[in-house]
Formats: sequence, C-alpha cells, structure tokens
Amino acid sequence: MSIGNIVEPANVAVVGCGHVGLVMSAGLAELGHRVTGIDRSAELVAKLSQGKVHVHEPGLPELVGKGLASGMLAFTTEYDAAVPDADFIFVAVDTPATLGGAADLRNIRAATRSIASSLNGKSPVIVNKSTSPIGTGETIAGILQSTLAKPHRVPRIVSNPEFLRQGRAVHDFFNPDRIVIGARVPEDAHAVAELYSALSGPMIITDLRTAEMIKYVANSFLATRVSFINEISRLCEPLGVDVDEVVSGIALDARIGSHFFNPGIGFGGSCLPKDVAALRYMGETFGVATPVLSAVQEVNQAQRTGAVRRLRARLGTLENKTIAVWGVTFKGETEDARESPAVDVIGLLRNEGAVIRSYDPVRPDSAPEEVRKTYCSSALEAARDADALAILTDWPEFLKVPLVQVKSVMRGSVLFDGRNALSKAEAESVGFAYLAVGRVSRSPRRRETDE
Ligand SMILES: NC(=O)c1ccc[n+]([C@@H]2O[C@H](COP(=O)([O-])OP(=O)(O)OC[C@H]3O[C@@H](n4cnc5c(N)ncnc54)[C@H](O)[C@@H]3O)[C@@H](O)[C@H]2O)c1
Repeated sequence: MSIGNIVEPANVAVVGCGHVGLVMSAGLAELGHRVTGIDRSAELVAKLSQGKVHVHEPGLPELVGKGLASGMLAFTTEYDAAVPDADFIFVAVDTPATLGGAADLRNIRAATRSIASSLNGKSPVIVNKSTSPIGTGETIAGILQSTLAKPHRVPRIVSNPEFLRQGRAVHDFFNPDRIVIGARVPEDAHAVAELYSALSGPMIITDLRTAEMIKYVANSFLATRVSFINEISRLCEPLGVDVDEVVSGIALDARIGSHFFNPGIGFGGSCLPKDVAALRYMGETFGVATPVLSAVQEVNQAQRTGAVRRLRARLGTLENKTIAVWGVTFKGETEDARESPAVDVIGLLRNEGAVIRSYDPVRPDSAPEEVRKTYCSSALEAARDADALAILTDWPEFLKVPLVQVKSVMRGSVLFDGRNALSKAEAESVGFAYLAVGRVSRSPRRRETDE
C-alpha cells in the first residue's frame, strides 16, 4: 500500500464503528490522522480496543492493529472523550429501512444530539457518511442549531457518502473510484478533501443534496442491473439461450461492462434493498412515480420464490425433504447475512416443510436464530443424506469441494446452483440433475463477486 504524505494531520472522531466507520477510522489513521472511533456498544468498543475486529474484511485486522499500536487509533463509548478535540466528526451509523421503506434516521438523530452535547462551543466539520435521504444534512444542521444552547456559528455540515464494497472495503478505501463531497459552503468540502489528500481518485465537490442523491442513485442503478439481468435470465431459459454467454457477449461493450450483471437469486445485504426502498419512498413523498424501482424490487423478490419453485418442481414436494444449503451470507467474502437472499430462500423452503442443513464458511451471527440452528460443520456435512443441494452464496470455497464426493454423501441428486457458480457439464457428469439461473448449456463463466 503506497500512501503519499498528508498535508496536515487532523483530529478525527468517527461515530459508529461498524463496517463503514471501522474502515474509515483505521484508514484515516493509516493516512496519518489521529482517530477515535465512538460506538454505543460497550462490547464492541472493548473488543476493538484489543484489536479484535468483528467484520470480515481482508486487511482490516492488520490495519486496526497497526493504528492501535501506533497510538493513532483508539475506540471509546464516550462522546466527551473524542468530540471536544475533533476537527472533523464523521457519522457512520446504521440507517436501516423502516416498514414503510423510508430510511430510519433515529441513529443519526441520536448521534447528532450526542455530538451537540459534547461540542464545548467548538465548530468542527460534521461529515455524514451514513446513507440517508436527501435533506439529511439540513436535518443534522437543524438538530445542532436547536440543541446547542448558544450556537456560535452556522453548523459546518458535509455529506461524504461511502461507496465501499463489503469484502473489499480496505482496498476500496485506499483506491476509491471517486470521492464525493457535498457541503453548504465549498470551504468545508475542501477541508474534508484535504483529509483524503494522500489518496488518488477523482473528487466530486458538490452541494449537500447532490452528494446525498449520488449515493442513492448509484446503489439503485446497481440494483437495477442485477434485476435486469435476472429478468433476462428468466427469458433465456424458455428460449434455449444461455444467459451467461449473453452476459459475456454484452459485457465487453465498454458502455455496459460486467459488474453487477450476475444472474442469481437476487441482491441483498444491508445497502441495496434499503436504498432502493428509500428512493422509492422519496418518490412517493414527492408524488413522483418510480416504476423502474418498483420493478427492480419485484424481480428481486421473484428470484427468491423462483428458486423455491424450481426445487419444489424437481422434488415433487418440499414436505420433509432435506435440503442442503451452501451459503447464508448475502454474498461471498462477508460475514453479513442482513437481508440475505439465502436467508429468505431458507425461510421459504422451511415454510413448505423442508428440513435445512446449512453451511457457511463464517457461520454468520447476523442470520436469524432459526437459520443458525441449521448450521453444519462443513459443506460435505451439510450435504449428508440431503435430497437436494442449493448453492445460495458465491463463496469461492464451494468451488473446491469435489462434486463426486458431494454426490456420494447425498440421498438425492438435485443440485440448484443459485449463483451460476459451478460447471453444468461437470455437475451433470457426476450424476447431478443440475438447475441454475438462465443457463441452458456448456461451460461456466467464472466471475468476480460484486453484489
Ligand atoms: N456496509 C456497507 O457496505 C455500506 C456501504 C456504503 C454505505 N453504507 C452506509 O453506511 C452506514 C453505516 O453502515 P454500516 O454497514 O457500517 O452499519 P453497521 O450496522 O455495521 O454499524 C453501525 C454502527 O453504528 C453504531 N451506532 C448506531 N447508533 C449509534 C449512536 N447513536 N452512537 C454511537 N454509535 C452508534 C452501532 O452500534 C454500529 O456499531 C449506513 O447508512 C449504510 O447504509 C454501508
């Protein structure tokens, strides 16, 4: 990792030490800033202070360890321990979806109130990294103004949306495609840009609302690509066309590319589903129809039910059938099972009476308890005596398990490859009845995980 010299080290507080906040904290410390991560979870802070990292991100434990050892990185539950001396305060708290689809801003509001009560009359730049609806920057400013007893200055609010990919977050921090910074006054945006001066990558300096909108549009577009190719995959099957070959044929077009074009059981995770829902909700709030976003959600849901339908059709019934499931997280290389399509499919299968034996390399704690109860110790163990095997997450580890061995421990021979990860020819050569998503023939297309 080669990092240039920073212009001037700053004191930085980062509120929220989850995926985004922790990578930010450790990354900024590596860039030479003095960073304190604040989290309301005492358990998490205790673990992080000992260098125990709770998220599965290559390179992150090393980076956190280095920051702690050098004294450039610390963690606390106390706002008072970090906010009064901070030049910059990043807010990276979770903004989950509410039932109606709107982003839940309670954590942002609570964090802002806590920041306000620890400011001590200072006026640091407050940088929102949480994905939150257009207008949140103004909401934060409003809370600060109404909470501060004697507001000395107009709050300095900046929006700096995060674009990291889980599983590659450290790489993405140091090699950003772009850094988007929106502010009410350009000086504040430039001050934040200075923090990142050691990184290369284009900077987009804009206003608060545009920065907030860029994040939602980026995620909604990625989700749209996934649903688009999933819809096409369904059309490919009756037409006798292999969707993977179609993707290969169009992805080389520089205007199209290959990312987020993987047919499968749909997108999930803590970002895309909630961000599409929140953008739709903003449309509803302003009376603007968003039929494309509605279709994206509809197709995404149908991919889950389609997986179950195919297994049911092949097995006759799911009642009392044992289904081995490989993969519980929402994608490979992460410990995150929030909004995981695999979890949804497991729930639907169980609802029809199937018995699940699951395996995931990280045994995610974030999966519901009824899913965690189905965890087996290995991929082969999960497959033992199963009537069917369903591959629901694209963990590279699954490609290394010899299919002959898998077939030999199973009772049945149905294999549903919900990520188009295996070779159809190879699976069929060992006797599997191979089902995939929009695939009708020939060779596998090896691909990168990017959802
Ligand atoms: N995870 C991603 O890949 C990703 C990528 C881009 C953007 N985002 C966005 O970044 C934000 C954070 O996401 P995340 O995945 O890091 O969430 P997360 O759930 O992993 O972590 C959030 C952390 O914030 C803490 N927290 C919540 N309220 C707090 C408060 N008032 N004071 C102190 N700590 C508080 C929680 O305890 C938790 O540790 C979300 O808005 C998300 O949409 C996430």
